[in-house]
Amino acid sequence: MIILGIETSCDETGIAVYDTERGTLAQQLFSQIDIHRQYGGVVPELASRDHINRTIPLIDTCLQTAGISLSALDAVAYTAGPGLLGALLCGSAVAQSLAFSLSIPSIAIHHMEGHLLTPLLDNPSPPALPFLALLVSGGHTMMVLVNAIGDYDILGTTLDDAVGEAFDKTAKLMGLPYPGGPELAALADTGDSTRYQLPRPMTQRAGLDFSFSGLKTQVRLLIEQAPPSAHPDIAAAFQAAVIDTLTIKCRRALKQTNAKDLVIAGGVGANRALRQQIEAYCQSNQVRLHIPPQNLCTDNGLMIAHAGAMRLAEANKDYRIDCQARWPLT
Ligand code: KG4
Ligand code: ZN
Repeated sequence: MIILGIETSCDETGIAVYDTERGTLAQQLFSQIDIHRQYGGVVPELASRDHINRTIPLIDTCLQTAGISLSALDAVAYTAGPGLLGALLCGSAVAQSLAFSLSIPSIAIHHMEGHLLTPLLDNPSPPALPFLALLVSGGHTMMVLVNAIGDYDILGTTLDDAVGEAFDKTAKLMGLPYPGGPELAALADTGDSTRYQLPRPMTQRAGLDFSFSGLKTQVRLLIEQAPPSAHPDIAAAFQAAVIDTLTIKCRRALKQTNAKDLVIAGGVGANRALRQQIEAYCQSNQVRLHIPPQNLCTDNGLMIAHAGAMRLAEANKDYRIDCQARWPLT
């Protein structure tokens, strides 16, 4: 089966062609960073307009790279939500029109399921079911027990900001350019994480929920009091607090579920310090860790094509749904 994947939920146009026999055949990504940077964040209308311009040319490039024509496609998978509604509609309109004209299924994919299943992509030793997944992106922070494809128990979620959002907002407070997460992480790598002490939110009480908005407020107070030269140390303290919190929650969830495989997915999974700390924990606790390469942690079309392939393998399902800006995973 050959599946075309289309991701347009936010500020990246991601297109890919995935073959269930041969693996990844092609992928293309266009990032809108330069369009949104002058506004300090994503402008939804500009995002939609750019997706309209990019989607079809990127599909053409992918098909050329894969050395196939449209008629070779068996299905088109697209991100149907959650995300910016206008942006989602661009991808879904192209996906559904293509599928209709080719008389093949179009498969609506939940963006977070795309992230969640990425560690199963072209992986000779994939995580064994049931496995635990920490999903950390710009819009979501979730601890999920994956019983089977499509059978997910959400064990914990954020009560306020997502972890990527906390990175982005904290970066903005320091005057760093959009997208703030990677900029803040780079600054943190140059600072001393021990100079300022920040709390590890929600770790003192039982449970697997998260909260990051208080941490962001504490950082705001520090920034107001300290000179700009202290920003690297503040960034390092913030990053350490976030990573410690995520590590503590993973440890707790692994104990609670007895899972031996841990997946980290979503944009914040690209964070080098987070990867290192969780890796060290897993190594000394006989937990198998699965984190996609950095370019597959952040948004991309391949995760959608791959999730589409996994969904297609399920029996007789009607995949057609409208786009949904808000869409719970379960
Ligand atoms: O999964 P993703 O690409 O898009 C969403 O689904 O939201 O995640 C984007 C988020 C942004 O908040 C971005 O700042 C954050 O992931 N991010 C990072 C890093 N790279 C991306 N946060 C911390 N460190 C990074 N290296
Ligand atoms: Zn994402």
